[in-house]
Amino acid sequence: TQVASIERDCSSITPPYSELLDKLKRVRKILDRPLTLAEKILYSHVIDPEANLSGRGKIRGETYLQLRPQRVAMQDASAQLQFMSAGLPQCAVPTSIHCDHLIQASEGASKDLERSLVTNQEVFDFLQSAARKYGIEFWCPGSGIIHQIVLENYAAPGILMLGTDSHTPNAGGLGLLAIGVGGADAVDAMTGTPWELKAPQVVGVHLAGELNKWTTTKDLILHLAGKLTVRGGTGRILEYFGPGVETQSCTGLATIANMGAEVGATTSTFPYIRNMQSYLHATRRGPVAQAADKAAAAGYLSADKGAEYDEVIEINLSELEPTINGPFTPDLATPLSKFGDFAKAQGWKDEISASLIGSCTNSSYEDMTRVADLARQAKAVGLKSKVPFLCTPGSEQIRATIERDGITSTLEDVGAIVLANACGPCIGQWKREEKMDEENAILTSFNRNFKSRNDGNRFTMNFLASPVVVTAMTFSGKLSFNPMTDSIPLANGESFRFSPPEGQDLPSEGFTAGEESYYPEPCPTAQSEVQVAIKEGSQRLEFLQPFPSHFGENSNNPRGLEFPALKVLLRVRGKCTTDHISAAGPWLKYKGHLTNISENLLITAINDENGEMNVAVDTENKTTGTIPEIAKRFKASNQPWALVVDDNYGEGSAREHAALQPRFYGCGLILARSFARIHETNLKKQGILPLWFADKADYSRIGAGDLIETEGLADLLKGDTQATIAVKVTKHDGQNFSIQTKHTMSADQIKWLHAGSAINHISSQLH
Ligand code: F3S
Repeated sequence: TQVASIERDCSSITPPYSELLDKLKRVRKILDRPLTLAEKILYSHVIDPEANLSGRGKIRGETYLQLRPQRVAMQDASAQLQFMSAGLPQCAVPTSIHCDHLIQASEGASKDLERSLVTNQEVFDFLQSAARKYGIEFWCPGSGIIHQIVLENYAAPGILMLGTDSHTPNAGGLGLLAIGVGGADAVDAMTGTPWELKAPQVVGVHLAGELNKWTTTKDLILHLAGKLTVRGGTGRILEYFGPGVETQSCTGLATIANMGAEVGATTSTFPYIRNMQSYLHATRRGPVAQAADKAAAAGYLSADKGAEYDEVIEINLSELEPTINGPFTPDLATPLSKFGDFAKAQGWKDEISASLIGSCTNSSYEDMTRVADLARQAKAVGLKSKVPFLCTPGSEQIRATIERDGITSTLEDVGAIVLANACGPCIGQWKREEKMDEENAILTSFNRNFKSRNDGNRFTMNFLASPVVVTAMTFSGKLSFNPMTDSIPLANGESFRFSPPEGQDLPSEGFTAGEESYYPEPCPTAQSEVQVAIKEGSQRLEFLQPFPSHFGENSNNPRGLEFPALKVLLRVRGKCTTDHISAAGPWLKYKGHLTNISENLLITAINDENGEMNVAVDTENKTTGTIPEIAKRFKASNQPWALVVDDNYGEGSAREHAALQPRFYGCGLILARSFARIHETNLKKQGILPLWFADKADYSRIGAGDLIETEGLADLLKGDTQATIAVKVTKHDGQNFSIQTKHTMSADQIKWLHAGSAINHISSQLH
């Protein structure tokens, strides 16, 4: 065990501020107006500001930027296989791999980790060998959750970084822009190819007032999710400012940034404050703090006076109360004082079946000291958790520090089980034995609550709340319990009411790093002689084969630069998140094996024509099958196909398999009422064309088995980004009609579609 008191070598993690400030000077010359903080950071990472920003009218919401991110973080098997197919000897930017999604929670930290090392050894060996070959820092299983590790080790004010997970914005707690992307976007940065992003709009969130002791930053973001809905942040960066920012801890800000993903925001950020400086020092990054102090003094780390936002949202923290969101969607927000009545009105059993705290969202030292305070109060009157009470620490550093400071034993005294430093139940890695087929309510301090996400039971209602609310309620076991006002009856006839929880944001004795073996060698050199480990006949890993292009000379497409006639596989009804398109939980083990994981394609999607889940119709022979079965049938008969989908298709995560899998089975085009940002880009990267209905009512006019043909795609493929694409629909009886669509394809994205995928295009450029 090591004590984290020695200053670490920060040369590879200190941002190149003088370069960024020089760029900012050039940007100011071009734009000549006050800039928001988000704009400063983003535009200072534009490769060639004069070419990219000059002579444009509006930038925000309209201009595609060519960017050079500073760093990439990847969870488990995500971008590595795609990076390998690009054929480069090493990564162009510092990159890290984090093994956090594959550890199943069952008996507790050490046994779960041991079991997971055995069942996933092949994948971990592959990841480690890829890391050695390409010079990537490898965070082994048990070291922690990607976003917590990034915050503790790599995040630095004012940088732009990418992560292959939708909660990458968590790092924004340190005042940077951290953006969640699919693996193919990460490959852009890793290969040194410009990474493209349409400049987001910037929403200012002005924080006034002060939180009370029961209310946390989690409640702020839960409340905001209720206001903005799961779509409110799409194409936008949330930039917080005002006196209410200054009083928050850095990790508290990270919680807000983490869950900006729940409203679809590109990312969230905050001006550099004293608590960020303290957090950098506490995590042994003094040189980064000193450099950031100077950059802040030069005006880089906050918005300019007079900077204009696309919208301003006012929140008075003094008026906020704890909030509980759910079930099944993170934007159904109910204030704690009304939650009991809300639950009663729905007819739900007044019972909590499990409580879960921790995860990448809420396992900071501050969170843990506050829940420990409640646990101590409960223990003093002889209370224990009424239901299973599970805790996932975000990192080895947090685990070791809370153990040293007696927090772990305090939680265990009241019945908590501390799990491995990994995602566990947050991503469905939960070997739950009880309540598996019945309606039940769990309370979590996680960030996401889609159906079936945690335990695979679609009747499990997951309610999101702050760690203190989850902890206090676990002692009553009731949904109707309000810890701010209600008492719990004790065995001696008396009753007990919690005092508001107290905590501290940073440990007085500093952090303990924990087991040394969990820490990777900083900045490893690429070892070209290493063979990346993929066993012959493996069921967990397979090399990716390039997707063939639908267009051009080698495509055998009689329609040239228009899609060949595409058959509609099905019309998907309503909410269809990336969890619906590519389920997690037990399926995660196949992330490195596209053929096997594709067996889960859309298995929880609802077919709008028959109302059934995972039932598709093969209109050719009038048979039905599961969605993957019919998709496979189309692939086997070389029938390219299309999907018709509803609003905000692909909301939720950066899961690139949600794009890889349909492409693998032969999907060419998806027609949506609207798309979620990350997923839309992922589709483009894999060579699927996302089209938006110009008239949303056209959604119901197209059904399974209809043939659709594009009209006008040839102009787009020839480079005309303004080209409009119509779709001719031919019904079974031969009747046909045309509808208008919209697209968001940029000049570069057109090249990906033409080449069959972004990787095909990059490879052709590199070799
Ligand atoms: Fe993992 Fe859940 Fe965070 S899956 S990365 S703990 S959102």
